[in-house]
Amino acid sequence: MTKITLPPHSKLLTPEFTFGVATSSFQIEGAADQREASIWDTFCAQPGRIKDASNGLVSCEHIKHWREDLALISDLGVDAYRFSIAWGRVINADGSVNKQGLQFYIDLVDGLLANGIAPHVTLYHWDLPQYLEDQGGWLSRDTVARFAQYAEVIGQALGNKVAAYATINEPFCSAYLSYEAGIHAPGHKNRKEGRQAAHHLLLAHGAAIQVLRKHAPKAEHGIVLNFSPCHAFSDAPADRAAAELAHAYHNLWYLQPLLKGSYPDLTHVLKADELPDIHPGDMQIIAQPLDFLGVNYYTRTVFRAKNGWFSDVPPTEPPLTTMGWEIYPQGLTEVLTQLKHQMQGLPPIYITENGAAFPDVIDHSADHNGGEITVHDPARIDYYQKHLLAVDDCIKAGLDMRGYFAWSLLDNFEWAEGYSKRFGIVYVDYTTQQRIPKASALALRDFWRARKAQW
Ligand code: NOJ
Repeated sequence: MTKITLPPHSKLLTPEFTFGVATSSFQIEGAADQREASIWDTFCAQPGRIKDASNGLVSCEHIKHWREDLALISDLGVDAYRFSIAWGRVINADGSVNKQGLQFYIDLVDGLLANGIAPHVTLYHWDLPQYLEDQGGWLSRDTVARFAQYAEVIGQALGNKVAAYATINEPFCSAYLSYEAGIHAPGHKNRKEGRQAAHHLLLAHGAAIQVLRKHAPKAEHGIVLNFSPCHAFSDAPADRAAAELAHAYHNLWYLQPLLKGSYPDLTHVLKADELPDIHPGDMQIIAQPLDFLGVNYYTRTVFRAKNGWFSDVPPTEPPLTTMGWEIYPQGLTEVLTQLKHQMQGLPPIYITENGAAFPDVIDHSADHNGGEITVHDPARIDYYQKHLLAVDDCIKAGLDMRGYFAWSLLDNFEWAEGYSKRFGIVYVDYTTQQRIPKASALALRDFWRARKAQW
């Protein structure tokens, strides 16, 4: 596959639909000496935590190369760029503002606007300052207040220049993977902690969105959740119940409080001391009106019953991405349709992340094609093609789809997987920091430019 196309009357081709590329601060910025340490710096320094024993100290050196990266984004013909702000690059441990750090984001936003690209900003993409973790991190209610203060600084500095603010990216990961499954920073393994962290993350969202709305009344305000359809390994009642429980625990646990102000009732499986501590008024704070829901979608998940709980069954049938994830585009339409039926009042949706890691290599014999394509990634082009059609299907199914962001602009630090997984549409040579657009970047660029040419 070399080209991306959509049916001529697809809503995705209209100016009302937003296309963009996405990144996050810790995964691309580097320049760790110019900010406070985050929980991911600490985690990376612990032996055995990151597959290739790497860290985010240098990464893609985006702080140094951001003008070049901006030119790359602009060349793609996208409408928007989604990036996150590193909390510890803006707020110092003593509570003061890091003026140089804040200025970086102001310059980036101004640079995007000068190029006609709408900034979509995420305030929290997992890089909690270590100084806050030292005081309890997301297990402490005080972190909620600190997040609202940080939102105040960002709202004041960027205000209405930003098209869309997302408070938190994938609270599931910052709660479950980080405090319950132990595979993300800070690496705790405790069910009650996972539930408590989720509650505080959602509470932080509810507090911050009010602050951001006050400073940026013209911007759109929302949050980003990750969803995966939860399928049963077999038709056995126990496996079906396990898949349903996983859906409630991984998907609804984050969406339902936002839309209904309540958590799914799982008191039949969770012990009283595993439930989060909730103060009066918390659920009202969480259930703030949302202008949009950001959705990150990658794959489906299969579950079987295990010891009265659920356990995921990793896929084995190729083709799989290098993350070991099944390519399952119809799952996007399926899970969003399911959620629309389960929840009233689903807000307009942006797909804030979608993409795949493949074993990309540079083709050093690229002369035969005039040197333009040096990384051939037809599987990634195919992945994007199929998922864009799935977004189109979502619209046909009555979902209010507003935009789509490819993950990711650049190859970058893939958390516990380090640099071993390449999600970029642009290849990064980490020894030279050279950026090399892959064939997928060119295919998306042609698609995006052709779309605009029709208007
Ligand atoms: C979701 C996360 O937001 C992002 O940081 C990560 O790189 C992708 N998933 C791929 O795993």
